[in-house]
Amino acid sequence: MKNELQYDSPGKFQETRFEKIHNLSYYSATEASKLVAKEIAHLIKTSTDQKFILGLATGSSPIDVYKELVWLHQNEGLSFKNVISFNLDEYFLISPKEVQSYHHFMHIHLFDHIDIPKDQINIPRGNLSSEEIREYCKSYEHKIASLGGLDYQLLGIGRTAHIGFNEPGSHRNSVTRLVSLDQVTLSDAAKDFNGIDRVPKKAITMGIATIMNAKRIVILAWGSHKASVVARTIEGSITEVAPATFLQEHPNVTFVLDKEASFDLTRINTPWLVMDCDWTEELTKKAIIWLSKKVNKSILKLTQRDYTENGLSGLINNHVSVYDLNIWMFNQIQKTITGWPGGKPNFSDDNRPERASPSSKRSLIFSPHPVDDLISMGGTIYRLVEQGHQVYIAYQTSGSKGVSDDHALRYIEVYLQIDSNQLHLKELKDEILNKKEGVPDSTSLRSLKASIRRSESLESARLLNLSSENIHFLNLPFYETATSKKNNSTKEDQKIISKLIKEIQPHQIFAAGDLADPHSTQRICWDILSASIKELKSESFLSACWIWLFRGGFNNWDLQNIDMAVPMSPSQINHKTSLIYLHHSQLDQLLFSEDGDIGFWSRTANLNRLIAKEFNFLGMSEYEGIEVFRRFYF
Ligand code: F6R
Repeated sequence: MKNELQYDSPGKFQETRFEKIHNLSYYSATEASKLVAKEIAHLIKTSTDQKFILGLATGSSPIDVYKELVWLHQNEGLSFKNVISFNLDEYFLISPKEVQSYHHFMHIHLFDHIDIPKDQINIPRGNLSSEEIREYCKSYEHKIASLGGLDYQLLGIGRTAHIGFNEPGSHRNSVTRLVSLDQVTLSDAAKDFNGIDRVPKKAITMGIATIMNAKRIVILAWGSHKASVVARTIEGSITEVAPATFLQEHPNVTFVLDKEASFDLTRINTPWLVMDCDWTEELTKKAIIWLSKKVNKSILKLTQRDYTENGLSGLINNHVSVYDLNIWMFNQIQKTITGWPGGKPNFSDDNRPERASPSSKRSLIFSPHPVDDLISMGGTIYRLVEQGHQVYIAYQTSGSKGVSDDHALRYIEVYLQIDSNQLHLKELKDEILNKKEGVPDSTSLRSLKASIRRSESLESARLLNLSSENIHFLNLPFYETATSKKNNSTKEDQKIISKLIKEIQPHQIFAAGDLADPHSTQRICWDILSASIKELKSESFLSACWIWLFRGGFNNWDLQNIDMAVPMSPSQINHKTSLIYLHHSQLDQLLFSEDGDIGFWSRTANLNRLIAKEFNFLGMSEYEGIEVFRRFYF
């Protein structure tokens, strides 16, 4: 039977000539995951051996593959009785009962729902004593080898290009062992552990050699945050600094991607370098910005020679002159810049991103968590309010998962000092102080944590001169689970969003539109909102509503995708930072950067400054900072 995930060797065609790992990219992670699950199911069913040795990964990448395998088991009788599984890794030190352990992950996502015999499941133990580690790792390795090696290994990839927990510096010959985690990996795991300080600093992982010995390897990557590491792994040279590049030497590996994760491959990112292009407006803009950076010149200084020497003859052939093309590009970017995000009343809007009328708009901002609104568009909200628009903010989730126990305890203790007889609070205090491993927060504790975040949001709204009536806490049900795992979104979530949109009938909607991790709260919130917009499409007020997407606290939109850029002065940046700082419950979540540990509030200001510099570099005016938006057409 033809394996649907395999065809053509990498680098076979002109456009794939830089690629050294076979890869397939799909419209969505869900669609791709189904095919991966189908391949695994097929191999299990057709295994001629008595047993099928299956290597498994954790993390958000394989979740949909496991969902599909469970579905195939429950609906099509796929049996796992002949499967012996080996997981890649486990944190160290961690007990298997802890909700963040990979033991827990594997059981809730897969093992609890299929018929694999318990004694055929192998996951590295994360709670060994230091004397046991060496022997244990040796025996894990030996067990895999004695069964004839892995028939199939499923992998994800970390932003450090780790596979398993083989961080940069891992040797090609490495085997199962105890390793230290990279700072980037620790910061990626911080959200699951409620702060970077609580993430275990070590892990037990299969080695590169263990993985490379598998007969078939499938590696998954979803979302724009993986795009650069994917390109580096597929197109870069083999190096210990990016351990996933060792996969280039494996004879039977496929990288399975969604559209966003494939964005940085040469044939997608800079297609003019490998093929003849259809010069759409977006591609033209992208190429000119790329050229400008490459030759280190602002747009209006680019010459015919710059274009031809850098593979862009095809682009200038479509235009009367390089001069005209440069002017067109300059104007395209310049007209995205506006200090009037709700439109400038009584001025022509021919060259402005938003319409002038109505002069007072209803602007509805959807913020996935409390504080996302300020991080992504605090300066813009300030301008909208100041310029007389009716601004509404809808917090899609309660954000309770982002409040640490210690922080909640601080509030409880304050109230208990005022009135020590409050039984309910005493119970909450006991719950926190006596928390057992793996026991999730009670509903009351979650509700206290949600109230903390609500009060922070109300405080920042007050300082923005927004009435509390304009602030909506939607508490979408998909988020309201006792553990860090979220539910699938349902019609109930969509109903809540649609009801609010119908009530407010906005002229503008601002929302988080980052297509990074498909399992992130931001992405789920956007999927729900876009489904509501689709559902309400025929309502007349919606046809007059423009939708603006901000990207989130980690990245700016690429310059060619920006449709509105709202500049900020130094004092506006300071004001925004001080509003973010009011969200005290979030201040213990330090995030790692190249310069050391910085808080997300200063990272946000840095992002605003960075994009302002990029605008300035292309030849636009010099601003202290800029917030950027992309228009969504529906
Ligand atoms: C997990 C593992 C890691 C992850 C990688 C990507 O068992 O070994 O290598 O695959 O960190 O994580 P996600 O999928 O969460 O982006």
